[in-house]
Amino acid sequence: MSKHIYITRQINEIGINMLREKGYHVDISKKDRPLHKDEIKKELSKKKYDAVICLLTDHIDKEIFKACPTAKIFANYAVGYNNINLNDAKKAGVTITNCRGTSAHAVAEFTVGLILSLSARIVEGDLFVRKGKYKGWKPDLFLGEDLFGKTIGLVGSGSIGSLVAEFLHKGFNCKICYSDVVKNPVVEAKCNAEHISLEEVLKNSDIISVHTPLLPSTKHLINKKNIKHVKDGAILINTARGPVVEEVAMIEALEKGKLRGVGLDVYEFEPEVNKKLMKMTNTVLTPHIASARDSARNEMSELCAKNIISFFEKNRAITEVK
Ligand code: GLV
Ligand code: GLV
Repeated sequence: MSKHIYITRQINEIGINMLREKGYHVDISKKDRPLHKDEIKKELSKKKYDAVICLLTDHIDKEIFKACPTAKIFANYAVGYNNINLNDAKKAGVTITNCRGTSAHAVAEFTVGLILSLSARIVEGDLFVRKGKYKGWKPDLFLGEDLFGKTIGLVGSGSIGSLVAEFLHKGFNCKICYSDVVKNPVVEAKCNAEHISLEEVLKNSDIISVHTPLLPSTKHLINKKNIKHVKDGAILINTARGPVVEEVAMIEALEKGKLRGVGLDVYEFEPEVNKKLMKMTNTVLTPHIASARDSARNEMSELCAKNIISFFEKNRAITEVK
């Protein structure tokens, strides 16, 4: 019997076409915004869907699984999967997959971009020019800092963190240290990276970059207590998930000058962005776009489709999360 798939928002076509080529029926939300939970429940109860592709903006839990008991696989169109209650999925016998391995290059490049935007004060300079304030070259106008030779501290050394390490070690002669629950022999061999505690990462790094998934154990990993260990004048970058960093503690550290600047693609209360962050000139703020490019989106779309097809044909998804 033909399978029915629901997608909670339009995504890149490549994966949708793969599903249709299999003869599956694919329905896609027509709304150009995230669906509210009630809307997802309503959509999913319209048919006996067999699979769902959901987005990181969808909160998926037992209520959703109950609304659609026939869907035994939810493929999350994201690397992160903190939007899904895995416990509820397990109880409902639903397989969850993510897009790990798909957007690491994009996010790592973006991370380096945020670092350079801050260290070379590119965004500040841009705003200055746009406001018509540029009246001529001046020796001390927007003096920045070298990235070359600096110490980079990675909080999390998965595929994204490892690439950031490689780009900065090879390209900018940076010294790399990292904290992680597991050692990463590859990044140690390639980048001479040193595995140390989180507290030591905060103490030693000129630039701290967060690359850990959001899990109960990583919520507020950087917080009011340990942020005091941050080296004076360090830069903090977060392209992972907002709640890994306690936002009020980060803002306080910025106000005190303990942090020289922050580059954020994600926010603790996303999509809400703290007004204080918006008023500061030493912040670079982007709207969760680190992986926003067709190469990554195509890979994500393809992987969601492959997971669903493999689940139906081989009874096993490819990138299941548990
Ligand atoms: C983006 O944030 C993702 O998790 O893919
Ligand atoms: C974290 O999500 C990573 O892959 O580095």
